[in-house]
Amino acid sequence: MHDNVVGYNQKPGSDAKNEVNDLLLPVALKMENVSKVFKSPAGELIALREISFAVRKGEFISIVGPSGSGKSTLLNIIGALDRPSNGRVFIDNVDIFSLKDSQIAQMRNLLIGYIFQSFNLINRTSVQKNVEIPAIISGMNSEARHRRSLKLLRILGIEDKASLKPVNLSGGQQQRVAIARSLMNNPAIILADEPTGNLDSKTGEEVFDLLRMLANKFKRTIVFVTHNSDLASRTDRTIFIRDGAIEKEIINRI
Ligand SMILES: Nc1ncnc2c1ncn2[C@@H]1O[C@H](COP(=O)(O)OP(=O)(O)OP(=O)(O)O)[C@@H](O)[C@H]1O
Ligand SMILES: [Mg+2]
Repeated sequence: MHDNVVGYNQKPGSDAKNEVNDLLLPVALKMENVSKVFKSPAGELIALREISFAVRKGEFISIVGPSGSGKSTLLNIIGALDRPSNGRVFIDNVDIFSLKDSQIAQMRNLLIGYIFQSFNLINRTSVQKNVEIPAIISGMNSEARHRRSLKLLRILGIEDKASLKPVNLSGGQQQRVAIARSLMNNPAIILADEPTGNLDSKTGEEVFDLLRMLANKFKRTIVFVTHNSDLASRTDRTIFIRDGAIEKEIINRI
């Protein structure tokens, strides 16, 4: 990557220098005693129990745990797609659920990029238009939007697919489209819910390497939910969740 399209302010630096800087970096994201209870006619289900942790700017963390342990629920709350029943979530020191709904929506669009296992692309429209959606919502003018979306597609190696419908792309290519879309508004935080879950291991590695590059070179903060313990062990830190609670935390890389 030769230019700074992913970030406005962040300059790529050497990995060694970045590792030293990591220790000094500010907190990007903080969860404080977050609980989530789903209520239904059948009763209450406690999906998250008093979850607390912080993630530093540029940190690449993984969340692992059995199916049903609460990983997606946690990610949805971090990304303000859902509200906690109790507790607080701070992004850049702002208590996000104390904001008005319209402010939460704006923050979600500008500060957070999402990548999902099932890509969540719109097949009615082109790859390029899919990438542009967050910028359409945030009101970027069309020329800047076209330029940026093409640049992101080029960086991700799929510029030649810009005018195709996502359904005509391979799984790995579709996930690259989703990554490009997640970067469209230059978010500080990227939330990825099993982004390699539907991919073969080689393509999964490639997607993982892209996330690693975004954390290392561009200081994006990345929260990566995965069932793949090998990939998890290659992130900076792994948080293990069981029955909605943090079971343990392992630092993989200082
Ligand atoms: N909207 C909802 N309403 C009711 N229960 C829910 C809802 N969303 C999740 N749950 C329940 O909360 C628990 C945690 O679900 P969650 O999807 O967070 O698990 P997960 O760790 O992401 O699992 P997986 O690895 O299978 O994706 C599960 O018991 C699930 O059934
Ligand atoms: Mg899940």
